[in-house]
Amino acid sequence: MNYLYLEEIDSTNKFAKEGINDIPDKTVVYTYKQTAGRGRLQRKWNYTGEDNIYASIVLKPSDEMREVYSNLTQLLCVVLAETFEEYDIQPKIKWPNDIRVNGKKISGILAEAVGANDSDGKYMLKGLILGFGVNLNVPKEILENIDQPATSLNIETGKFIDKEIFLKNVINKFCLYYNRFIEDGFILIKEDYKRRAEFLNKNVSVKVFDKTIEGKAVEIADNGALKLIDKDNKEQILLIGDIL
Ligand code: BTN
Repeated sequence: MNYLYLEEIDSTNKFAKEGINDIPDKTVVYTYKQTAGRGRLQRKWNYTGEDNIYASIVLKPSDEMREVYSNLTQLLCVVLAETFEEYDIQPKIKWPNDIRVNGKKISGILAEAVGANDSDGKYMLKGLILGFGVNLNVPKEILENIDQPATSLNIETGKFIDKEIFLKNVINKFCLYYNRFIEDGFILIKEDYKRRAEFLNKNVSVKVFDKTIEGKAVEIADNGALKLIDKDNKEQILLIGDIL
């Protein structure tokens, strides 16, 4: 993996998106001062200080889109969870890729694909951007001002966390899985993902574009999709969405 450090930037995802043609495959774009971070569902990602992680992994696996690429966020989620566990905490995964500790968010992932149609109308993928933010050392009073329950690794462990060590650890773990994951798909990590899933066997509301689907989350499929049983006892298989 290559590392590209930026002293200050509005958003590492936006930077990677705009520079996709010039950024090599397997590059981590990161900063400790992100002034306009973006989250999923048009949310923003707060800047919580320079001792936290704001990073985007740029990948260029092929020039056509494959279903397995959309599961890379779930791989990153498992890798982040494994890294948190090394600090003796028990992170839980909220499908598809939020990480929470004791019901409070500690990390978020925003994945984007960049591509364009060629002259024959075929979609050509330029690259994938896996952006992630991790609360490592956030003061309590800043956490309280975030618009959803949030926590930080220093609060959970009572210790100051070295951001460089944490970042390298996440990236090294990600690299260990990456090639096999592209070949084998979500099934490679299914059990590791499910073991940490906090939503299974619970009633959930899932936002899919502008619709909200309610039901009981019963299973994670081999391709990473969420299986729900809705109010009419019908099975719904969701490949994208956000649990609200
Ligand atoms: C979410 O939980 O909604 C996703 C948050 C993703 C935040 C990260 S921070 C680094 C990267 N750059 C961005 O603008 N967003 C992602």
